Amino acid sequence: MNTATIVCPLVASVVSLSLAAAPTPDQRALDLLQRMTLEEKVGQLVQFSDGMATGPDRVKVDQAALLPKGGIGSLLNAVGAHKTNALQKIAVEQSRLGVPLLFGLDVIHGYRTTFPVPLGLSAAWDPSLIERTARVAAAEAAAGGIRWTFAPMVDIARDPRWGRIMEGSGEDPYLGSALAVAAVRGYQGGIGTANLAQPTSILACAKHFVAYGGAEGGRDYNTVDISERVLRDVYLPPFKAATDAGVVTFMSAFNALNGVPTSAYRHTLTGILRDEWKFDGFVVSDWTSITELIPHGIALDDRTAAFKGFASGVDMDMQANLYAAELPGLVRAGKVSEQAVDASVRRILRAKFELGLFENPYVNADAEAAAMLKPEYIALAREAAEQSFVLLKNDATSGGKPVLPLAANARIALIGPLADDAEEMLGGWSCQGKKEDVVTLRASLAERFGTAFTYAKGTAITGDSREGFAAALDAAKNADVVIMALGESRHMSGEAASRTRLDLPGNQLDLLKEVSKLGKPVVLVAFSGRPLTIPWEAANVPAILMAWYPGLQAGPALTRVLTGDAAPSGKLTATMPRAVGQVPLYYNHLKTGRPVPGPDDEKKDEGYKFLSRYVDEDGSPLYPFGHGLTYTTFTYAATKASTKELSVNALRNGAAIEVESTITNTGSRSGTEIAQLYIRQRGTSVARPVRELKGFEKFTLEPGQSRTVKFKLTAAELAFWNIDMQLAVEACELTVWVAPSSITGTPTKIMITE
Ligand code: BGC
Repeated sequence: MNTATIVCPLVASVVSLSLAAAPTPDQRALDLLQRMTLEEKVGQLVQFSDGMATGPDRVKVDQAALLPKGGIGSLLNAVGAHKTNALQKIAVEQSRLGVPLLFGLDVIHGYRTTFPVPLGLSAAWDPSLIERTARVAAAEAAAGGIRWTFAPMVDIARDPRWGRIMEGSGEDPYLGSALAVAAVRGYQGGIGTANLAQPTSILACAKHFVAYGGAEGGRDYNTVDISERVLRDVYLPPFKAATDAGVVTFMSAFNALNGVPTSAYRHTLTGILRDEWKFDGFVVSDWTSITELIPHGIALDDRTAAFKGFASGVDMDMQANLYAAELPGLVRAGKVSEQAVDASVRRILRAKFELGLFENPYVNADAEAAAMLKPEYIALAREAAEQSFVLLKNDATSGGKPVLPLAANARIALIGPLADDAEEMLGGWSCQGKKEDVVTLRASLAERFGTAFTYAKGTAITGDSREGFAAALDAAKNADVVIMALGESRHMSGEAASRTRLDLPGNQLDLLKEVSKLGKPVVLVAFSGRPLTIPWEAANVPAILMAWYPGLQAGPALTRVLTGDAAPSGKLTATMPRAVGQVPLYYNHLKTGRPVPGPDDEKKDEGYKFLSRYVDEDGSPLYPFGHGLTYTTFTYAATKASTKELSVNALRNGAAIEVESTITNTGSRSGTEIAQLYIRQRGTSVARPVRELKGFEKFTLEPGQSRTVKFKLTAAELAFWNIDMQLAVEACELTVWVAPSSITGTPTKIMITE
């Protein structure tokens, strides 16, 4: 399509206006708004999934009839330049005011170039990596006409039963905030809205507002009941950070929070988001979450549901068709003011102007294919995958050397249902990722090891057939090292994919046990969208690498890391429990009055019964937050602080505590380390977590090389929601650690005085 010849009716008036005074996107939105009928305004608040029936009764809305009337402001799931251009042509050329459509899509970890799933990406602890992958995803999506992604998901998740833990950055609000900002920058082309008009920029969406990750029992969509303090200390920070980075859209959530469905919670949607944080973008509901106010029980009919959603602060109705059906009537009946509708429409139109959609409503379909899978994108996908892997353990074999990296001349047997399944490597929410683009571990290892390589599938991901066991054992018998590619199916995490068991599904553990009996060194490469419970594996398998779902470069990235061409460097962003019964288990918990002495305590555990513990399982994690090894070793010198004492007033006036540690590569290989800064506050008005992450730094050291990492603690890092529900710094005993994980490091203390 030759986009230059298409004239959008609105452009003419806008151009004449801009010659006079160069109006801002907001002024243009206001100007346009004044010429719209109520129905046209409401149309901007309506989003449908292209061609799809809506609601629990699967009502077929006549989208084709609504579009030329300006009755739809946004479509999701319309994919590809031909499709989006054709739909856009109707909106632009046939509707009275020619307002372009905004096309949205779940571009979660890549559009066509599939990167690791977000939980895996987060394990790289690398904001710049997140920003670069989001930038690539944006460029590919925009080439097909998508100018809005429903990402990043910034929900804190403390419960790995919840399948959507895969879509976020794990359990920590500090890391989650840093990565949220990076993703927003990547999609939107920088901080704020300045670069939105670039054809490779798309709107980001902070979702799901809010506390969706706190679902009881890990059951998706489920009730969340948490204190306002936990909401503010734990769940809100990544959303606040995204707001400060200029994210243009928010998505409300499915869950009820403290009794109120979050798609109709005025306290969070308006009180916090708009009044406290001054968010001036727009809020879209989650998929039919406005209709779902009825089963939630806070509305008996469509009209009330539409009213409650809109009046609470949801600007756009995704897929429920309730704003379209009910808002005009609610305005005419005086229940909703037209000014309120105007305010929502203005936000949406402003975003469309900021994106340059009025000037460039179409994309060049001829350029679409060439915008995908560029060599540098594939290289980035490999880099991202390499950085996402977490080496949980790597014991020495009988020869004294660690199992990994693999020796160049080793005979390798690769066994397992995830060794050669291209589609599985894409993970959930794989957008336009295609299995043809994936290189599997089997393909890469075969290329690398040639005739010294054998493969057997062994078993399926689920099911109990042992048919493949014999061939797998045969393959293992002739090998020096056995690599077991085991784990979950990609459909076992993501939306509506909660689990009650977090172990290897099917009979994969049986296969692993059989293979282990041969006495060969075994490497478990575990694929999953969540932390798994793998106590037997941790006790019996010498090397374990968490691979998550690595994306289209799964094979090359894993092969490079297994052979030592690259070294693993990721660290866990979600705690790995020993048993499901421990869940929720997270590093930044409170201490209780009867704590079991932990690694930070001088007192040792003497087995006294009446402590906060289980009678049948150790309470500690199998692998803690922040844990991850590499092929070299690092030592941390004792943590040092610039002062032993500082007053609250000094902190309020801008003083900082400098904290540092010198880290040395004490091994014989180059290696990348992620140093973590933790704090603990005691003597405060409310109980504070045993540790909280307040900084991190990732760096590479050659053997023998040292680096002093320095962090600053200011009022911003030390403030918390106190007994009066004020965000404040309090006098306290402050303990700080610079450490390689959330349970290690040597502490130092500072008194924060009145
Ligand atoms: C999910 C959202 C997603 C939306 C649109 C919903 O079911 O909860 O995360 O963005 O669908 O596909």
